[in-house]
Amino acid sequence: MPFVPDTQTRRVALVTGGGRGIGRAVSEALARDGFNVCVNCSSERSLPGAESVAAELAEKYGVECAACAADVSDSEAVDALFSFVAERFGRLDVLVNNAGITRDGSLLRMSDEDFDRVLAVNLRSVFLTCRRAAKIMMKQRWGRIINMASIVGVVGNAGQANYAASKAGIIGLTKTVAREFGARHVTANAIAPGFIETDMTAELPEKVLAGATERIALKRLGTAEEVASLAAFLASENAGYITGQVIGIDGGMSL
Ligand SMILES: NC(=O)c1ccc[n+]([C@@H]2O[C@H](COP(=O)([O-])OP(=O)(O)OC[C@H]3O[C@@H](n4cnc5c(N)ncnc54)[C@H](O)[C@@H]3O)[C@@H](O)[C@H]2O)c1
Repeated sequence: MPFVPDTQTRRVALVTGGGRGIGRAVSEALARDGFNVCVNCSSERSLPGAESVAAELAEKYGVECAACAADVSDSEAVDALFSFVAERFGRLDVLVNNAGITRDGSLLRMSDEDFDRVLAVNLRSVFLTCRRAAKIMMKQRWGRIINMASIVGVVGNAGQANYAASKAGIIGLTKTVAREFGARHVTANAIAPGFIETDMTAELPEKVLAGATERIALKRLGTAEEVASLAAFLASENAGYITGQVIGIDGGMSL
């Protein structure tokens, strides 16, 4: 028998780094689907932007949205973020770990600091949020965890040892969460985007982008909205039998 959750109350989603790029599109797709959304951003400096996204989505879709600044690599800040969600929304049903950074460079020149920071923001954060979210979700016997990995975490990429390691780590962590909490109807999946048009890829030199486009079967970069549609599907009731998967969305780049 499929598990039928309580649908009387609006479900609540937390999107880390949800104020811009792919995260913003995910926040919007979930609000459109009727979730109340907590839009996380990295610092007080980015809070006004995240607050205006939250206000816009609340107005457009008639759901409750709020923004909360927290550096998700910091355990105390993640505690404060989860307290905010509990106080403001009273529950948590969907966690989207989207926050991520790059600090690219060849392995030989990569500093300890650049390695550690990327691992902390991209991977440690996922451990910190999953540990808290899984506790809530297992008690309510329903939950969706969606982690933003990358195709680079599957195939590697020259110049991205730190980033590739963090994204590969996310994949192992996601599969473990899926195994540990599946019996409580909590699913955990990773999304592995290829090249998506956002601020992150806008920083890349024209030559790199042209070379990448050539390797993509569909001959174009993806959009944040396309990644968000996948995240929204994974958050939905219809995705209830999908867990522990790494779902590529790369226009056929990894073929
Ligand atoms: N754009 C791509 O081509 C691509 C491809 C594969 C994977 N991804 C992944 O998708 C996710 C979103 O990427 P994007 O392209 O939208 O990038 P982006 O740089 O536009 O957005 C990243 C978001 O993460 C937030 N963030 C950064 N550090 C944070 C911290 N310490 N605490 C909380 N939030 C923090 C930022 O504020 C921002 O909202 C990332 O995890 C990225 O690795 C992107």
